[in-house]
Amino acid sequence: MVQPQSLVSTLAIGSDHGGLALKHVLFARLRDAGVTVHDFGTDNPASVDYPDFAHAVCRAVTGGSAERGILVCGTGIGMSIAANRHPGIRCVLAHDVTTARLGREHNDGNVLALGGRILGEELAWDIVATFLATRFDGGRHERRLAKLTPA
Ligand code: RB5
Repeated sequence: MVQPQSLVSTLAIGSDHGGLALKHVLFARLRDAGVTVHDFGTDNPASVDYPDFAHAVCRAVTGGSAERGILVCGTGIGMSIAANRHPGIRCVLAHDVTTARLGREHNDGNVLALGGRILGEELAWDIVATFLATRFDGGRHERRLAKLTPA
């Protein structure tokens, strides 16, 4: 089993109502694994707007108070779109472990977006653990990351 705390010690996490239940599961499992997790909401099932939470988590990552971020909405799509509008954020939308691994190895992803209405708890946990424990490969991928921002 991949240990999620092996590379990352501080995380920011956020969700809308569609991701709330899965976020609570992940928060507890990360805390039990020894990761410090800052929860930026939402904290109740009332309908809210996912960009508000995406922006809060991304600001924590770009500001340096969290090493990486996790965002959960119904599908992960809206969160990933909002997150990837932040300069310096490379948000990986992953619904499988392979995408999570490659999103780190090739893309140096610093935020993970998940679909709370798509994923079961065990798969979501394996995706999170893989995302947190996988190193960026560097090399040729550095050059490609440098080209992400349009000139
Ligand atoms: C909320 O109903 C839903 O649209 C949101 O959680 C997310 O799936 C958007 O991408």
